[in-house]
Amino acid sequence: YRIFDQKKKMSTTTARTPLPTVPDTDPSRFTLDSYKIAIAKAVGDALGLTVEQVYPGVAWGKKGVDFTVALPRFRLPGKVDDLAKKVVASFEPNDYLASIQHDKAFLHFMCNTDNLNRDVLTQVHDLGANYGKNESGKGKKLVIEYSSPNIAKSFHVGHLRSTIIGAFLANLYRACGWDVTSLNYLGDWGTQFGLIAVGFEKYGSKEALEQDAIKHLFEVYVKINKDAEADPQVKVDAAAWFRRMENFEPEALENWKVWRELSVKKYEEEYDRLNVHFDLYTGESAVKQESMDKALERLNEMGLIEENNGAKLINLEKWKLGKAVVRKRDGTSIYLTRDIGGAIERYEKYKFDKMIYVVSAQQDLHLAQFFKVLELMEFPWAKDLLHINYGLVQGMSTRRGTVVFLDQIIQETTQVMHDQMQKNEEKYKAVEDPEMTSREIGISGIKVQDMAAKRINNYTFNWDRMLSFEGDTGPYLQYAHVRLASVGRKNPHLLPLPPPSQINTDHLSQYQQAREIVFLLGQYPDVVLTALKTHEPSGVVTYLFRLTHAVSSAWETVIVKGEPDEEKARAKLFLFEQAKVVLGAGMELLSIRPLERM
Ligand code: ARG
Repeated sequence: YRIFDQKKKMSTTTARTPLPTVPDTDPSRFTLDSYKIAIAKAVGDALGLTVEQVYPGVAWGKKGVDFTVALPRFRLPGKVDDLAKKVVASFEPNDYLASIQHDKAFLHFMCNTDNLNRDVLTQVHDLGANYGKNESGKGKKLVIEYSSPNIAKSFHVGHLRSTIIGAFLANLYRACGWDVTSLNYLGDWGTQFGLIAVGFEKYGSKEALEQDAIKHLFEVYVKINKDAEADPQVKVDAAAWFRRMENFEPEALENWKVWRELSVKKYEEEYDRLNVHFDLYTGESAVKQESMDKALERLNEMGLIEENNGAKLINLEKWKLGKAVVRKRDGTSIYLTRDIGGAIERYEKYKFDKMIYVVSAQQDLHLAQFFKVLELMEFPWAKDLLHINYGLVQGMSTRRGTVVFLDQIIQETTQVMHDQMQKNEEKYKAVEDPEMTSREIGISGIKVQDMAAKRINNYTFNWDRMLSFEGDTGPYLQYAHVRLASVGRKNPHLLPLPPPSQINTDHLSQYQQAREIVFLLGQYPDVVLTALKTHEPSGVVTYLFRLTHAVSSAWETVIVKGEPDEEKARAKLFLFEQAKVVLGAGMELLSIRPLERM
């Protein structure tokens, strides 16, 4: 069924019926809150409930319906049918609500289309890039760690996923008013650096290092690993080197410092291309010996440490987390201990309200172990640690073979995208900066593929699918944004648009397609809040595809070019401009840079 609004003639300046205020709602950022409150009031007044009691029961409607209230949730005496009839009988259309419909245990509501269009579009216009943001995290501090690759080892898809999901979460928390500090916790310490040191003496080259530190160190690492397989002495030498590093012998650290610095420099450039940033590059090397010693001491006092053959371990079997080694026989530190010490240091430094680790589900056990240890140590903030995990990715190899570096991923994506763009010669010629454009579109493809489904799902890396302009892909989102951006360019006589109060949005009310777009635009602030609860980027991705599909089906009916009535044409352009604002904001939230042209 379809519910049509009662058309009411209203001038754009009519004062609205005042609404009650409801805690935790904010019509100044989320205009649909007003409409939800109006529904809560209509239902509440009829049934003798307060607006606060009804408000949480006002849910998004299914197709063709704006909002729905399920009556059983209020647990009122009497038949649901009678309750519904009571609400329907007392319902009167007002500035916010046009109609009500009774459907079994549900009440469906439609908003006043003229006001809905005007309110939503004006709000998006006025808030601009801030539309969708909220201040729910005001005064709260988040520390978030993501990407965290290992120096001299390969940058695998697990790191890529951490980078993409982490950047999204950092953006999301910032958009919700949190004070966010983002960390890249590099794998820059551990026995393997002793091995690289030995390898560097044999195979290292200053020039090659300076040219591409990440690549050169990886080559050295691969070679010396081979040697170590054949000759046990290599490992002995490596262990000795690492001992010296842990003793902070300046000569033992000299090279390591350069490796780290040059690797970070190279990574920074690559992250920049991905539109990903860190407030601080820290790493396993930064965790102080003292913090780890203190932690082990405390664990010992608490009787949690067991000795085994000179090694120290924590028995976490009670919690089905096995036995975790915290100190090796030779006394050198290990991954787990560094994480324990690192978390303590971070709390002391940042006094965070929450700390997020974006790490592959393959490390679920590791994260659970060190969170548990911190809890056993009775740190009150241990409950504020959150592991955001994600599934595996299969099949990321390029035409030249397996991928080991981040810049290979970026280059391959750019190349594949570039090849594809070149197939359409005419279009290709019109592109100003094909290299940049294909890279941005390609990166959007990678990101959307990565964030399209629930984090925990595994997926197969598919170059063709993710770089296609058809289907729900990154390139499609870019295309939709570019098309929205082009409406103004193609209709310069309508620009600049006057302020919203001088645009007659009532002209849009005759288009069902316009209404669909507007209602989706109105939902965006809620999409952001929901993502904050679930930590799932897929909700945002799904929303953006719903929006772009709604826009795409409007092109044939809500036509700007050639519209003879300029007032009408302006209203339509205004609609598309606001759709562009929200699409752009959503893409930015996903760390995708929206393009203006392609
Ligand atoms: N560098 C690690 C790896 O590549 C990931 C670090 C995750 N973060 C942490 N605090 N343990 O496996």
